[in-house]
Amino acid sequence: MKIGVPAEIDAVESRVAATPETVKKFIALGAYVAVQAGAGLASRIPDAEYAAAGATIAPDAAAALADADIVLKVRRPAPSELPAYKAGALVVATMDPYGHEDDVRAMAGAGVTAIAMEFMPRITRAQVMDVLSSQANLAGYQAVIDAASEYDRALPMMMTAAGTVPAARVFVMGAGVAGLQAIATARRLGAVVTATDVRPAAKEQVESLGAKFVAVEDEEFKQAETAAGYAKPMSAEYQAKQAALVAEHVKKQDIVITTALIPGRAAPKLISAAMVASMKPGSVLVDLAVERGGNVEGSKAGEVAIVDGKKIVGHLNVAGRIAATASQLYSKNLYSFLETLIDKNTKALAVKWDDELVKATVLTRDGKVVHPAFAPKEEPKEILVAAEGAN
Ligand code: NAI
Repeated sequence: MKIGVPAEIDAVESRVAATPETVKKFIALGAYVAVQAGAGLASRIPDAEYAAAGATIAPDAAAALADADIVLKVRRPAPSELPAYKAGALVVATMDPYGHEDDVRAMAGAGVTAIAMEFMPRITRAQVMDVLSSQANLAGYQAVIDAASEYDRALPMMMTAAGTVPAARVFVMGAGVAGLQAIATARRLGAVVTATDVRPAAKEQVESLGAKFVAVEDEEFKQAETAAGYAKPMSAEYQAKQAALVAEHVKKQDIVITTALIPGRAAPKLISAAMVASMKPGSVLVDLAVERGGNVEGSKAGEVAIVDGKKIVGHLNVAGRIAATASQLYSKNLYSFLETLIDKNTKALAVKWDDELVKATVLTRDGKVVHPAFAPKEEPKEILVAAEGAN
């Protein structure tokens, strides 16, 4: 059983899908691991550390991938990478399939079995495999670090002989995994923190971190959580009430960090240009949703936009800005999942296709797109008959 770890080809990707620690664990499970030379460098892992853990250093991607039964990646392989993959290889990555259906079909065409780690169900057994949580947690932390470095003032209150510095006011919008870590980090740095969310369960979590919860708590708010624990899209009426409340609050903030997402949809627009204009010069907004359309009007993916003296931070791949830690946790998520797919006696890949974790995450298999959200829909018989009649 060969595991291949090619270097990521996306210029913005600094993470790597295996660490010396996970390499050692895979070898203990009976695997032969080939890591492409330089794959870990942006995560501060030199080739020598992989080699010391027992990996073979492959000179290029083709060598890392040749005959690999399992390929560990951070990002979905681009169509240009696929010819080097063995047909039937299990490719485990963050597949980001929405809006990239052509790439999903290309993986099916190449005959690889693509596993989308972000589709891992949020059940207790799979917590250790939850890449969304491990990476969002770090992104929330890093958002505060980025905000602090763009903000030309101190965050904590300081009483010095030369005068008192007031504590910065930080407002976190979206109190999921990233938002809660942003709240905790901003509190540790001494800021006065408030936060909002549309899910009622978030209120207690925000308060337990010592921040104040700010939200329109009407009947719709009380119903705003899906069974899976995610936010629902809110009505136009709710959004208008929310915007009015936020507009008043944002004026008084020094730093705003937005993390609001709704699965499978564009991010909700929460901060308008007028709200940005109402803030003091030198204020900082960090839009963690920028890759999904953004929560802040005027945020630009991959840029720090300066609008009327305010900075709108739109870094891409924010977890990748803390790459060494992000790779450590991501690799561990991958290992924890793969461990369940490897037979400890035969030391071979033995995927249980009817396991709920596998069923939820398999995108392509045997040349086909198999995930229900992406598989070609069969037309119902009646429609076919009607269409034939029409001809
Ligand atoms: P996410 O990344 O999908 O969204 C981030 C946050 O934005 C969410 O809290 C969401 O409610 C909020 N949001 C959406 N629209 C908004 C709006 N208009 N205004 C303000 N906020 C808005 O969410 P994430 O971080 O993935 O967490 C979702 C839920 O899953 C949480 O309840 C979390 O505690 C839970 N969870 C459960 C796990 C488990 O294993 N049981 C693991 C990780 C998270």
